Amino acid sequence: MKYVIAPSILSADFTRLGSEIKQTEENGAAFLHFDVMDGMFVPNISFGIPVMKSIRKATGQIMDAHLMVQDPIRYLEAFRDAGADLITVHYEACPDVTKALVKIKDMGLKAGLSINPDTPVEAVREYLEIVDMVLVMSVYPGQGGQKFIRESLDRIRDIRRMITETDRDIDLQVDGGVTLDNLREIMDAGANIFVAGSAVFGGDIGGNVRRCMEIFREYE
Ligand code: DX5
Ligand code: ZN
Repeated sequence: MKYVIAPSILSADFTRLGSEIKQTEENGAAFLHFDVMDGMFVPNISFGIPVMKSIRKATGQIMDAHLMVQDPIRYLEAFRDAGADLITVHYEACPDVTKALVKIKDMGLKAGLSINPDTPVEAVREYLEIVDMVLVMSVYPGQGGQKFIRESLDRIRDIRRMITETDRDIDLQVDGGVTLDNLREIMDAGANIFVAGSAVFGGDIGGNVRRCMEIFREYE
């Protein structure tokens, strides 16, 4: 299992975005996580296409678009054109989940499906034949800097078990309240991609990413 840190730019300093992203890339963060919020599916509004377009030119990282957007099928092509390599949609936001996931795959991108903390894990089972990644929200989406919901650990274990039963190579991403202190127990539960906003973009950015990479190396 390949462990990956996916810094969420939601917590970055947008007056220094280019250099802060560079610090994550140079220290080993293979993914860059875009928390796109529409003010409808979640109560907050963050950023969208123009931000991703400009960042695409500035980094070689895998651009991981997390669409916290109502009926996201409307924007899939726009995010592909802006440079997304992977697009994750929310189970709760799609009138037709399969249609959205198949469209992402048909565009040649990796497809992710995310569930909120109050959505039963069983909801993802029927999509495991299509998705490349499952994103387990460990906070209620809408802002960075929240506390990790500890019940998420059992949900991660359940979904890792479902993934193992499929024999498909599906990544399990966790987003919300991930820190250097709880990273190991989230890894032990079966996650392999970790979204981190405040844990990366607060203080020594390069050092925070290096410390995550050191923890990953303990498991190799
Ligand atoms: C949804 C967002 C946040 C963010 C992570 O609200 O997806 O979870 O990326 O922020 P931290 O790592 O600060 O909890
Ligand atoms: Zn996210």
